[in-house]
Amino acid sequence: MLDLLITNAALPDGRTGMSLAVQAGRITEVAPGLQAQAHEAIDAQGYLLSPHFCDPHFHMDATLSYGLPRVNESGTLLEGIALWGELKPLLKAEDMIERALAYCDWAVARGLLAIRSHVDTSDPSLLPVQAMLEVKKRVAPYIDLQLVAFPQDGVLRSPGGVDNLQRALDLGVDVVGGIPHFERTMEQGASSVRLLCETAAQRGLLVDMHCDETDDPMSRHIETLAFEAQRLGLQGRVNGSHCTSMHSMDNYYASKLIPLIAESGVSVVANPLINITLQGRHDTYPKRRGMTRVPELMAAGVNVAFGHDCVMDPWYGGGSADMLEAAHMGMHVAQMTSQKGIHACFEAVTVNAAKVMHLEGYGLAQGCDASFVLLQARNPGDAIRLRANRLKVWRKGKLLAAAPEQVARLDLPGRPADVRFTAPSR
Ligand code: FE2
Repeated sequence: MLDLLITNAALPDGRTGMSLAVQAGRITEVAPGLQAQAHEAIDAQGYLLSPHFCDPHFHMDATLSYGLPRVNESGTLLEGIALWGELKPLLKAEDMIERALAYCDWAVARGLLAIRSHVDTSDPSLLPVQAMLEVKKRVAPYIDLQLVAFPQDGVLRSPGGVDNLQRALDLGVDVVGGIPHFERTMEQGASSVRLLCETAAQRGLLVDMHCDETDDPMSRHIETLAFEAQRLGLQGRVNGSHCTSMHSMDNYYASKLIPLIAESGVSVVANPLINITLQGRHDTYPKRRGMTRVPELMAAGVNVAFGHDCVMDPWYGGGSADMLEAAHMGMHVAQMTSQKGIHACFEAVTVNAAKVMHLEGYGLAQGCDASFVLLQARNPGDAIRLRANRLKVWRKGKLLAAAPEQVARLDLPGRPADVRFTAPSR
């Protein structure tokens, strides 16, 4: 007797009419038209079953703090950092924990079950670190929360920055972060990249740096990050987040840089919602979009994922833990509107993001964890277009969330009365 049998599901790879058998939290078989006894049997009605969403770049210590102590009026990254600096002395651990737990509730409801969150290590009290470690422990039964030691004020620029970051890692923070473009000089930025990659190599940890989150085309720390990843044998273990300066670089330099990134095995996370909001703020017209070169990086073989980055915090007032919103914005900003491009945007918030996070047991193949989401959509393009309703969310075979089908009932003369907005079945 199976624990769970799902029949008549569409899968992201285009297969339809598929069944998934689940036993002891794992997928035991994926095949068309399976028939077996199961404790729970679900007819997916042709809707899309996807591995759960993953957010490879978030700031959970700041989330849901919008308006505290005031709103970012200019909308710039720098006012956001200044505002966070005003808020930090006022923060209480229990409030931060409560906000993060509320966000994790939203995440589960959206089928988002793995989050990599940067956590600010700049203050010697390490209050955000302690709070997020507590959150990680509490949400462990339902969310994989990975923490990055993030020296928001610059690991070299702020007093005690290196020591604070090392202490955060000693406490159990998983990944080494950085912010080279915020250090005092380009040289200091490069030194910080070297120092932080060496720290990761010594400790056997992954690296994820905010890298060149600026419109300055001369901000080239991604080049140093790729070099250090290769020098220290960290291929496949390093991620560059944002990399927005690449948007403004000249094409000749980008044509040299992109193959170097590919060769180094460094992955890239773009944050479409935030990049389109924060970048280009110093421009008149035309205003730059400020997102990194997503399709070009993908074409070169670089693993590129999308993050949400911020939800209702000093940098961004929107969001609701919906990675399909990030994919939707990414698709538009990068003009990835071909069938291949749309599919790549869906992968950017699922498989590619899982790869950045080094998640084990991820996917819909036999032997993977039974952690997936049933979407009220027929295919990945439909899911992105609709930011589709999440009908059911399972983690390791256990149902965590459910929502009714969204149907608008119309009262029109001579027309079908139910509207679901999904693509016509073919
Ligand atoms: Fe960020």
